[in-house]
Amino acid sequence: MPEFLENVVATAHGKVNLYLQVGDLRPDGYHDLTTIYESLSLSDELSLTAVGAGGGVRGLSVQGPRTVPTDQTNLAWKAVELLVAAYRDRGFTEFPEVEISIRKGIPVAGGMAGGSADAAAALCAMERMLAPAYGAIGRNEMLSLAATLGSDVPFALVGGVQLGTGRGEQLTSVMHRGTHHWVLAMNSKGLSTPTVFQKLDQLRQERTMPRIGHDHELPIGPITADPQRLAQALANDLQPAALSLLPELRRTLAAGKAAGALAGIVSGSGPTCAFICADMEHAHQVADALIDDGVASAVTTATGPADGVVIQGQTWQTWST
Ligand code: C5P
Repeated sequence: MPEFLENVVATAHGKVNLYLQVGDLRPDGYHDLTTIYESLSLSDELSLTAVGAGGGVRGLSVQGPRTVPTDQTNLAWKAVELLVAAYRDRGFTEFPEVEISIRKGIPVAGGMAGGSADAAAALCAMERMLAPAYGAIGRNEMLSLAATLGSDVPFALVGGVQLGTGRGEQLTSVMHRGTHHWVLAMNSKGLSTPTVFQKLDQLRQERTMPRIGHDHELPIGPITADPQRLAQALANDLQPAALSLLPELRRTLAAGKAAGALAGIVSGSGPTCAFICADMEHAHQVADALIDDGVASAVTTATGPADGVVIQGQTWQTWST
């Protein structure tokens, strides 16, 4: 067998969309997006261990919620197979068989791209395992492979603050300053991303829905360190659809505002609600109030921006350039 690494551990981060503008439904079933992603300190850890020869995945285990699939339907499993196929296309034939183990820190089905983070971590970890023998896949191909796994998997690779266009997979980095302090209020009911997009289409057909972009300026230019200004710019076209599917989120958003958060927003397709706060102390106060109110299944604080995938202290961004 060629010289592969035996074990690689990768960390990948969750995200919040500071701004999420949704265009019309496209013929391919996706919607054009203009979004600003910010990665958060909440992370999953994925460990890849070579357990034999032959390529492929022998098994996948998860420390965390039981709802995470442990079979071929897990995006991390698909990511490993996709990466091996990319090396096969380059003419390589010998591969280790791997075990995947995931420790979840990002809420599941929460609109925070936890599944995408695991996919990005698996892609990078497998590339790193094979690279000593076969070399790296290269930045652009890794981003394309990531996009075939999901619209926000490229962002999970890169992290930081990025403008996402197309279906969210085309990234342009955005200057940013300072650290933002967030409170995240989870809802154990979860929401399916396609269902939320469909609901938005339905609401738009039934009535004229206000679209963001008219009264909200796209917060590019450097993303401000000033939480008050950022609070005014937060906007999400998917929020009315998420609220229509899970009306109790209104109470969560209202409770965050009443607790003094500068602004609250449904994160991506939800149901996690993200509240921007002035500083860490303020975030802890808001989190405590939300816990006391009982309006969320779990509450945590996080900071952003964070990195994308990190392996042995090195970000994929630095490794791949
Ligand atoms: O890209 P991803 O597999 O994460 O998307 C899941 C689903 O979310 C898509 O099948 C589609 O229904 C919806 N989606 C969309 N427009 C996007 C991204 C996702 O309609 N830009």
